[in-house]
Amino acid sequence: MRTPPIPRKSRRTQWGALMLITAASTLAAGIQSLPITVKPFGKLQDGTPAHLYTLQNAAGFRADITDFGGTVVNLFVPDKHGALADVSLGFESVEDYPTKSAYFGATIGRYGNRIGANGFMLDGKTYTPPLNSGPPEARCTLHGGTVGFDKVMWRARPVFIDGDPALVLEYTSPDGDQGFPGTLSVEVTYRVTANNELRINYRATTDKPTPVNLTNHTYFNLKGEGAGTVLDHVLTIRASKITPVDPHLIPTGEYLSVAGTPFDFNTPHAVGARIGDDHEQIKFGGGYDHNWVLEKPDGELALIATLHEPRSGRFMEVLTTEPGMQFYSGNFLNGTKGKSGHTYDKRGGLCLETQHYPDSPNRPEFPSTILRPGETYASTTIYRFGVR
Ligand code: GLA
Repeated sequence: MRTPPIPRKSRRTQWGALMLITAASTLAAGIQSLPITVKPFGKLQDGTPAHLYTLQNAAGFRADITDFGGTVVNLFVPDKHGALADVSLGFESVEDYPTKSAYFGATIGRYGNRIGANGFMLDGKTYTPPLNSGPPEARCTLHGGTVGFDKVMWRARPVFIDGDPALVLEYTSPDGDQGFPGTLSVEVTYRVTANNELRINYRATTDKPTPVNLTNHTYFNLKGEGAGTVLDHVLTIRASKITPVDPHLIPTGEYLSVAGTPFDFNTPHAVGARIGDDHEQIKFGGGYDHNWVLEKPDGELALIATLHEPRSGRFMEVLTTEPGMQFYSGNFLNGTKGKSGHTYDKRGGLCLETQHYPDSPNRPEFPSTILRPGETYASTTIYRFGVR
């Protein structure tokens, strides 16, 4: 990875409220790399300013990312006629994120997905992160607790990686943050490539053993955000098992074969084709809200899912090094007012959250999520867009 120190090697131009960051080294090399722009993205209630960074390629593919929550705010993708649409749900200013967002576009941590009501035990000690989700009789810790990584300000550093515009976001989660042990230093890098990919690299280190499960919570709608439901999107997932859940979406610890169930996406199926089926797991999830067990060597980057929207022709491939993927069909969306006055109704977007399995700290039989001092957590996910 090439990360030229921006202020020294690059040209920074003040242009109204907009900043332009150009990779001098890539210009010198004759590489057609578009500048990274930075503009204000509103203020949090305590006055802290947020920023919006734009990473784009020559084809018009563009990701706008804010330092609040390490959040993907907009994602512009061409359709089969070359027309761009923003395929990610979100808001026009940071003000709406802390209160109205259902994790739209956010970086999720320290532990993405659920940990059961009793917390977890690690090296003989019990830890009880805040219970921030679920009905009164079955609370759980969702997405890292009350103030997860989606609700904090990250330090942002625009860089060019092999000529591609990228944004490095850093956050230090203190020892005891949300009940988790150890100081966790986290780095998330978003990179826009010339092939219409949004690449996300995660790295983390700790000074005490702690569970780590980082993911991204972008809600995709390949017709464009606010343009109806995703029930007509055609999905393929390379996996023959899910981790089934109890009525409160905590894994039972078993594996369920997808064969003959609405969970079999090994051949392409419309999201809506079987979402109303009389299947216990569908009922528990209120639709799809489950972890698929990916069939690939642990840690190997592989294509694991494809989402296609036939009318626009847009498709998205998902590649990851992670062993699991939560497919969440936007079942809890309920009319949030988002960008351009659009309303995000039930199933107005879906998430493909690459991750380790939910509740792994309580499931020694699942791939481990425990990071120990001296180790580096490293994970990569690519969302690659195209048309057909
Ligand atoms: C995840 C969960 C869902 C829901 C959303 C946020 O995808 O699995 O159950 O909590 O986040 O609304």
